[in-house]
Amino acid sequence: MDAVAKILERLESLGGISEEEGKLTRRFATPALRRANDLTGQWMREAGMSVRQDAIGNLIGHYPGAAAGAKILMLGSHLDTVPNAGKFDGALGVVLAIACVEQLAGRKLPFAIEVAAFADEEGVRYHTSYLGSRAMAGEFIEEVLNYIDAQGIEMRAALRQFGGDPDRIAQCRADPARLLGYAEVHIEQGPELEQKNQAVGVVTAIAGQTLASVTFEGKTGHAGTTPMRQRRDALVAAAHFILEVECHARKRKGLVATVGQLTVLPGASNVIPGKAVLTLEVRHEEDAKRLAAVKYFQDALRNTPASWKTVAETPTVRCSPAQIALMRKAARRHQPRVLNMVSGAGHDAAMMARITPVAMLFVRCRDGLSHHPDEMVAAADVGVALAVLSDYVNEFI
Ligand code: HGY
Ligand code: MN
Ligand code: MN
Repeated sequence: MDAVAKILERLESLGGISEEEGKLTRRFATPALRRANDLTGQWMREAGMSVRQDAIGNLIGHYPGAAAGAKILMLGSHLDTVPNAGKFDGALGVVLAIACVEQLAGRKLPFAIEVAAFADEEGVRYHTSYLGSRAMAGEFIEEVLNYIDAQGIEMRAALRQFGGDPDRIAQCRADPARLLGYAEVHIEQGPELEQKNQAVGVVTAIAGQTLASVTFEGKTGHAGTTPMRQRRDALVAAAHFILEVECHARKRKGLVATVGQLTVLPGASNVIPGKAVLTLEVRHEEDAKRLAAVKYFQDALRNTPASWKTVAETPTVRCSPAQIALMRKAARRHQPRVLNMVSGAGHDAAMMARITPVAMLFVRCRDGLSHHPDEMVAAADVGVALAVLSDYVNEFI
């Protein structure tokens, strides 16, 4: 079977490993991720790598260099998914990196290669993204171990049950002095490559993000007897704010703002909502414009019964110019024109950039669709991406 067919077959297999029947959901530290790690670890071994799982649940394959203690070129992406996900977000980067090592067929390079299958890029289970790459970058915040998921399971306990070790997460940190860099292949999750009829593109920056939780306090009351003018309906206040967010973001180029979750309490059809809690995510390539939008939204809440809590904030990450040049050189061997692209989506590379120079290669995906079961890539584009990544690795020889 050729390398591309094997990649697609492996992605099919991973796509069937889910917490839910009939759709792909694979969250951090779940038995489904455990099964995905086990299967991926098998493929890593078949490619000639030794395999370890670190304390946060990252799976790492090590392909030794010609000499002991050789520096490490890190490749990879994430194996966790959003709910009802597509098969390619994250998994493509892991499986394609393994295929890149497999093609070496035992040939020793002057450096080692490690393939990281990160444990939690999406942050679905505990609303804290990048848990795996954050731990590898030495930026893990111990306090999140106390977080509780929707089933009331504390992260610390979930991690232990998964086979991780909450007391040894500091040991996940990679030694920056040993790293040559980190490269990640990922579906574009946007329409540009398809519009420009390009199989791959080179990422120059990963847009910064602010994630906030906004709580609207109202007063519960009887839906049938409380006159409209005497109500303090928390959901109506939230609805006005959501429309304000939508109007503001639509008018500003490069700004995206999303209310992805809304909880209404007490949640009965005949009770006026006394509380509404929403998540607001704001992203822009330029940090100053993202922060200006955040301030606008915070100001919009003044004199309303609402409170704002910033849950997470990651500044825009610039990929390393040297690594961009190498990735462009590799891509130009397979595609006459190569786009430089800014990623609106977050990636583990944003965390890894804190300890080593990073590069990313985007792969065209059908209709730019992602975080959706219809996510799709063409076999030919996977072939281009594999060839580019292999040439990129050879640039380090
Ligand atoms: O949300 C993101 O940008 C990424 O898919 N976690
Ligand atoms: Mn994603
Ligand atoms: Mn992803």
